[in-house]
Amino acid sequence: MMQRTMQLVLRVKRSSGLLHQFSTAANSQRLAGKVAVITGAASGIGKASAKEFIGNGAKVILADVQDDLGRAVAAELGPGATYTRCDVTDEAQVAAAVDLAVARHGALDVFYSNAGVLGSIAPAPLASLDLGEFDRVMAVNARAAVAAAKHAARAMVPRRSGCVLFTGSVSGVVGGTGPTSYGVSKAAVLGVVRAVAGELARHGVRANAVSPCGVATPLSMVQVLEAYPGMSFEELKNAMAASMEQMEAGPLIDPEDVARAAVFLASDEAKYINGHNLVVDGGFTVGKLLKIPKE
Ligand SMILES: NC(=O)c1ccc[n+]([C@@H]2O[C@H](COP(=O)([O-])OP(=O)(O)OC[C@H]3O[C@@H](n4cnc5c(N)ncnc54)[C@H](O)[C@@H]3O)[C@@H](O)[C@H]2O)c1
Repeated sequence: MMQRTMQLVLRVKRSSGLLHQFSTAANSQRLAGKVAVITGAASGIGKASAKEFIGNGAKVILADVQDDLGRAVAAELGPGATYTRCDVTDEAQVAAAVDLAVARHGALDVFYSNAGVLGSIAPAPLASLDLGEFDRVMAVNARAAVAAAKHAARAMVPRRSGCVLFTGSVSGVVGGTGPTSYGVSKAAVLGVVRAVAGELARHGVRANAVSPCGVATPLSMVQVLEAYPGMSFEELKNAMAASMEQMEAGPLIDPEDVARAAVFLASDEAKYINGHNLVVDGGFTVGKLLKIPKE
């Protein structure tokens, strides 16, 4: 009886094409008709995400504090992109980015809270932790994630539809993989997802995080960029990728790898995925680097 029912369901699904909707092609229009705000979109993962979102049919408000770069990126991405200045540490500016999306495009479907800072990378013992610096990192990475959730909810809950995304980090999952303030802030981002997803789910809205490992962006390469001022970003990236391969720690993840995960989570294909942290780390958090002694 059960088997017969399954056969009937499969026949109906096949004839309606429902089994053929999944596509892994780039530009597969997975976000057709959706409107997104992406913070930190002038560079790195945010820029790659804006490009991937637009390639998949979305309209994107690129929010950042690097105005010239943000405007240039929006111009490069075409009519689906609009740049707005938005310092995510200022709640009013986060609210304004949401309002701009609604005013310009009629609704907000995705808020991708991605802007972030690494903070000081100078090695310092815990006993000398600068709490002023800690507050600054928390303001951009953690407090802004709460502001994003709050204002996204304001726009999405009344429509009973939408998705809030956050860029976490493996540093929020595994201790000692980044500066202390950064690790705490990223653990807090994952805490925001857990804290808000249940309430939002009752209103038809989802909240998820994408947590990358090492991605070649200005944020992660600040140290080498400072150390080798004569070298171009591409040259440094290639050198970094080669040394990671040598240490069997590679490959270096590309911003586009993270962007594609964000597109999936923002799409209707992920409609039952809520409160999840999707790591994009090539196996780092499952012990890829652990050396198993030979017997
Ligand atoms: N690069 C990595 O290895 C890596 C790994 C894990 C997580 N992340 C996270 O990815 C996110 C994006 O970083 P990225 O690697 O693309 O770096 P990036 O430096 O290329 O981009 C970060 C962007 O955030 C913007 N920004 C900084 N402070 C802001 C503020 N107050 N208001 C608005 N925008 C602000 C910057 O101007 C920049 O455009 C961050 O949250 C970062 O913590 C990065």
